[in-house]
Amino acid sequence: MSKTKKTTRQTGSRRKQQFLLSEDSPFAVQEAYKLLRTNLIFSTTEDKGKTVLITSSMQGEGKSTTAVNLGIAFAQNHSRVILIDCDLRLPTDASKLKVKNQPGITDVMIGINKLTDAIQHLPTGLDFLAAGTIPPNPTELLGSERMRQILDALSNHYEYIIIDTPPVTTVSDAAILAKIVSGVVIVCKQGVATQESVSETLQKLSFSEAKVLGFVFNGVANEKVTKYKSHYSYSYGYAHAHQNRSSSSSGGSRSSNDFETI
Ligand SMILES: Nc1ncnc2c1ncn2[C@@H]1O[C@H](COP(=O)(O)OP(=O)(O)OP(=O)(O)O)[C@@H](O)[C@H]1O
Ligand SMILES: [Mg+2]
Repeated sequence: MSKTKKTTRQTGSRRKQQFLLSEDSPFAVQEAYKLLRTNLIFSTTEDKGKTVLITSSMQGEGKSTTAVNLGIAFAQNHSRVILIDCDLRLPTDASKLKVKNQPGITDVMIGINKLTDAIQHLPTGLDFLAAGTIPPNPTELLGSERMRQILDALSNHYEYIIIDTPPVTTVSDAAILAKIVSGVVIVCKQGVATQESVSETLQKLSFSEAKVLGFVFNGVANEKVTKYKSHYSYSYGYAHAHQNRSSSSSGGSRSSNDFETI
């Protein structure tokens, strides 16, 4: 474990540019997300509610950007898809999508809001469940039976559930959630992810018996992106992981649930 690793996560004071996928996005960017979407369609085999957790080893590698844009890419494909911001410490998906962060999943978990009332239906076709009120005990909430019930209920209605999480080496939230999802995608940003940090991440996820579906390489200089005169200084690559998971971590083992009652 790196001695220089930060144990707390900080927000930058400088306002950063956000990259939201749209039909106006550069061709290379659209193609990269389509490729990621296609690979995930082939990598997940559940009959319903394929839950894909997006994480990384370090902070700021592009998890939320990937999760939001992947959600939009599935919506563009007319899939029934919902994005859940399960980064209950520093949620950014709502601001990236320019919608409200409350009510959200934490408010549903503690019974303030019903699940149906908390879901926002966006013009892109993407449904979004924000993080909601920042709780004092995020890890506990994410590992709760209530969280499992919410995913059960959503899996009856959605073909794809994309879950954004905090980085694995900083807090245990993603590893806890990894136990109850179909699979995990690890975002690795060039110049940020190290062999050490990725190894630590894989080790922590293997303790959760997580199925690692693959990696997204973010922030990689790409000739094609330059060719299309993109203002995006990055491209996405995707690599499959060949890692088995025990049947205990299968999303298919969830009991059915009534969406309306949650
Ligand atoms: N490839 C990229 N090139 C340039 N900027 C990027 C790239 N990917 C993400 N960003 C920008 O980097 C910042 C961090 O990205 P993002 O919020 O997606 O990371 P994150 O991994 O979710 O961070 P955190 O760990 O804080 O949740 C954002 O301002 C985003 O727009
Ligand atoms: Mg994030």
